[in-house]
Amino acid sequence: MNKIQFPKDFLWGTASSGPQSEGYKHKKNDSIWDYWYKKEPERFYNQVGPETTSNVYEQYAEDVSIMKELNLNSFRTSIQWSRLIKDFETGEVDQEAAQFYNRYIDEMIANGIEPMMNLFHFDMPYELEQKYGGFKSRHVVDLYVKFAEAAFELFGDRVKYWISFNEPVAYTKGAYWHNLIYPNEMSMQSYVQANYHILLAHSLIVSAYRKGNYSGEIGIVVDLLPPIPRSENPADVEAGRIADLFINLIFMDPCVRGEYDQDYLNILKKHDCMFHYHIEDLEAIKENTVDFIGINYYQPMRVKARDSMPNPFSPFTPEWYYEPYEMPNRRMNEYRGWEIYPKALYDIAMRVKNEYGNIKWYVSENGMGVQGEERFKNKDGFIEDDYRIDFIKEHLGWLAKAIDEGSNCFGYHLWTFVDNWSWTNAYKNRYGLVSLNLNNTERTIKKSGNWIKEAIKNNDFS
Ligand code: FCB
Repeated sequence: MNKIQFPKDFLWGTASSGPQSEGYKHKKNDSIWDYWYKKEPERFYNQVGPETTSNVYEQYAEDVSIMKELNLNSFRTSIQWSRLIKDFETGEVDQEAAQFYNRYIDEMIANGIEPMMNLFHFDMPYELEQKYGGFKSRHVVDLYVKFAEAAFELFGDRVKYWISFNEPVAYTKGAYWHNLIYPNEMSMQSYVQANYHILLAHSLIVSAYRKGNYSGEIGIVVDLLPPIPRSENPADVEAGRIADLFINLIFMDPCVRGEYDQDYLNILKKHDCMFHYHIEDLEAIKENTVDFIGINYYQPMRVKARDSMPNPFSPFTPEWYYEPYEMPNRRMNEYRGWEIYPKALYDIAMRVKNEYGNIKWYVSENGMGVQGEERFKNKDGFIEDDYRIDFIKEHLGWLAKAIDEGSNCFGYHLWTFVDNWSWTNAYKNRYGLVSLNLNNTERTIKKSGNWIKEAIKNNDFS
């Protein structure tokens, strides 16, 4: 068998986020997660909330040293808006928070870990949600720009990769469509409007970053779910196209090409669901396309045409046009319930190459969650996660093939480094290369961590 190898300067990293890892050792403003947990703790798995983390606020240096030990050379995490900014209206910075992020970033750089800093990982400040309705409000776009400008100014001399938003659609789907994220409002108009404002905020901060003449790059992270229709029957293909428009292209097209797909806008108009915008925004969106794209990939999106017509009196959702397709005999992650389909990573890479001008991109998340991972602990207390090693290898095999065929991919980031808190699922599923003891926040490298260490050293992921 040929070795699975990658280019010399490839970025090997893991990904995490501020709200899922930092913890509460220093007081900060509430985000929607802090508020929601106080209000409805029963929504959270085992009632474990966002204060129960791996305590990165205090243990970041230990983590960075383990990253170095594992030969990783990059790390994506996020700066929490609700931590860095003390006063959201004025943009006043919390100095202690700024010092924390300074220490964290400096520690990464001193240890040869490239910091990739994301500015939004589902963590809307609660005050802005409550006063203005979060990104439904244009005023919140302006406040977000203030926050981003403060972050660029504070850390832009050292951070070379900036990310405006992580998975904006996963956030808005959760908040306005699927009842998973506060304010769990269930309104397509809100979904469409918030997505539009997020796009606008993204474009404005790309513009601000470029005006500031920093010497790095800025992009966005999307969960580009490859839609796979049930069959080649035109109705199924059309179902895939609509899902693609509402979930993937809604950010991919304007962020890379500078404009929306006209079909998306036509559907919104047809259903009287068009977002409010100012004509000059379109210029900002057109001019401020990204330097690179981060793509999170876990599983494909299998769809089919609907079996029956929706009730014409029910409010419009894109699911008027498609339904999820639970293909029989899909290969499932038996410990988590998500499909495993590694070839999609190749399909994504080829799509970026062929349809998006081969723009520079990287895998910003990919990984395998496992429920009850404790059962794989050996007698020395060490988790033997062979399933995760196989999962990574298979995905990397397809990625290497795509790179061989000219895909412009510059890195791979596994979700995640140390097991972290996963929103309403809390610690139900573990994802890390390093396990976390929730009682004392002790870290133990898993078998997958040791595997990746050797694989990176030998440039051999076979
Ligand atoms: C992704 C999120 C991330 C994490 C993983 C499992 O969609 O970006 O925060 O929860 O799923």
